Amino acid sequence: MEKVICDGYTLVFSDQGQGDAVVLLHGFCGSSEYWERVVPLLSKSCRCIVPDLRGHGSSDAPLGAYSIEQMADDLLKLLDELKLPKVTMLGHSMGGYITLSFAERYASRLNGFGLIHSTGYPDDEAGKEKRLKAVSTIQTEGMTAFIDGLVPGLFAPENAETHQELIAKAKEIGYSTPPQGAAGAALAMRERPDRREVISGSRLPILLVAGEKDRIAPAEKVFTADGPNITKATIQGSGHMSMMEKPEELVGVITGFLQQDRPQSDH
Ligand code: MLT
Repeated sequence: MEKVICDGYTLVFSDQGQGDAVVLLHGFCGSSEYWERVVPLLSKSCRCIVPDLRGHGSSDAPLGAYSIEQMADDLLKLLDELKLPKVTMLGHSMGGYITLSFAERYASRLNGFGLIHSTGYPDDEAGKEKRLKAVSTIQTEGMTAFIDGLVPGLFAPENAETHQELIAKAKEIGYSTPPQGAAGAALAMRERPDRREVISGSRLPILLVAGEKDRIAPAEKVFTADGPNITKATIQGSGHMSMMEKPEELVGVITGFLQQDRPQSDH
């Protein structure tokens, strides 16, 4: 793993493969390890840059509430440090919220972007309330109880039996998320605005990926816009975690998206 200092904090990332750069962002209480079944396949045809987001994995986890904008700004710093004028950014769930904030303000740094089991919708009132409950569970019961409650619901129910190892892996990643990082990120997600217009108003190539069995980000929340620049894909049999549940299928979708005709990137 490599390191960069963002806003005074260390952000770690992996950098594998060659060619056009793709930044892969994990979701809430995940880490770059979420992508460990994807990167070996995808890095055959492109350069995969995979950070541990602020508050997660081995990156620093400052105390207090984060903002999605701040987490997107960390990535701008990362691209600047790597001297990458343009990348394709693909974000899983919370990583998708960060991708939208990045696309809203730094579109000139993108060749395209994508949401993987994510949405432009903000939290509704019930969702905002759940964030506060999440923070309270993290603070009073600890990460193990919180993650044990969270992770099984991320996978398609029919995968629960066959994917025991993957669920255990996702839990292990979750357990090692610093509690202040999880709480900070939960509060960041709570405050995010409606960003559906970033999707409908962009001319960049956009990939929207839904999981057929996703109970967190159902297809109607993922597919919020149509257009000639928008590619939609549903991963059959997948829950919220296609990068773990169906990595070959997801890589096929991403590779197809990256190979579409598009203006030449300037690097
Ligand atoms: C995630 O996987 O990042 C979360 O499901 C996102 C959320 O809680 O909105």
